[in-house]
Amino acid sequence: MVRTFIQDYLNALATFKIAFIHIRGLEVMAIAEIHMHKNPAILTENLTKRYGDLLAVDHISFQVNEGEIFGFLGPNGSGKTSTIRMLVGLSQPEEGRASILGYRLPAEITQAKRYVGVVLDASNLYDELSALDNLLFMARLYGVPRDEQKSRAYQLLKDFGLYERKDDRFGTFSRGMKRALTIAAALIHEPRLLFLDEPTTGLDAAAARSLRGLISRLREKGLTIFLTTHYLEEADLLCDRIAILVRGKIVKIDTPAGLKRLVQTQSLIEFSFARDVSALTGDLRRRLGGAEAAFLDESRVRIYGGDPPQIFDAVFQFSRDNGIGIEAASTIRPSLEDAFLRITGLSTVVMGTEKGGGKGKGGRQ
Ligand SMILES: Nc1ncnc2c1ncn2[C@@H]1O[C@H](COP(=O)(O)OP(=O)(O)O)[C@@H](O)[C@H]1O
Ligand SMILES: [Mg+2]
Repeated sequence: MVRTFIQDYLNALATFKIAFIHIRGLEVMAIAEIHMHKNPAILTENLTKRYGDLLAVDHISFQVNEGEIFGFLGPNGSGKTSTIRMLVGLSQPEEGRASILGYRLPAEITQAKRYVGVVLDASNLYDELSALDNLLFMARLYGVPRDEQKSRAYQLLKDFGLYERKDDRFGTFSRGMKRALTIAAALIHEPRLLFLDEPTTGLDAAAARSLRGLISRLREKGLTIFLTTHYLEEADLLCDRIAILVRGKIVKIDTPAGLKRLVQTQSLIEFSFARDVSALTGDLRRRLGGAEAAFLDESRVRIYGGDPPQIFDAVFQFSRDNGIGIEAASTIRPSLEDAFLRITGLSTVVMGTEKGGGKGKGGRQ
């Protein structure tokens, strides 16, 4: 502990010295400052993990900015946990590079770990210890200053809604409370970057909702969060940006809005007419501009693409001109699910599949 402290102190001095030597005017200082603030929380280049012949993580490159919740969205087995394990130094990449908060991996993993919290699927807390004692134990383990251990533990218990249960044994907690306390414990040393591996998997809807609330409050405090999930709605709700992972490859990185925009052109409006319009399909199509009309039967049509208000205008005009009433009209808004389907070709049924027991993950390296 002392050694890392001294190391960091020397590093800090070295940084200062470099800054000093290079300062020849204000411009240089301004540039130095921009670089300091633009430090990505995570940077990877062609990061790759193999298990025998299996390419579990396939040359992935991405950047996570400080202060954002970056989502890693992919079905089971797509390489999410393998990626986290490499980023936190639990396994070695076969190829590629990564850095965490400016520290190169694997050489500087020890320094990086001081600023990183990790929550993998299994909790590292003790069933027989109380919630409070678990946090105090973790505080000592992480070298939290003695006079701060108690206040931090109490604050986390309050923040996570577990204060009332502070003296109860961890073993008696519900799954949701266990997950919450495990995250709290990962924050005891006040990390700047938190890895959460499928935090809500296996929780009931209410516990998952409450945990999502906690996670978004952590972002408000300026924490950078790398979160994996196979729930589309969770990624949509929590993440600033989402990387979509399919069989170890990143197929797309964008904001939730950007991903939805991809399918916006496929906005879909369905009209039901009061009677047969099959003789008038040419007339209708001519009015639609670039949008495509697909007839479900003689009186129902689906219109793909185009600008919805214009489509409505055109179809209402068609209905008036031909004296045919419209019985129903509905817009189907593109969801992240539609975007996901379009990008990956994977059905959401694949995404929703819960983990099976027989995956044989015991022998991780
Ligand atoms: N220790 C291991 N040995 C062999 N194969 C593994 C090991 N860990 C994971 N895998 C395989 O690598 C792939 C990616 O797994 P993982 O990273 O756990 O995916 P995810 O977290 O997205 O479910 C899967 O096919 C999985 O079976
Ligand atoms: Mg996993």
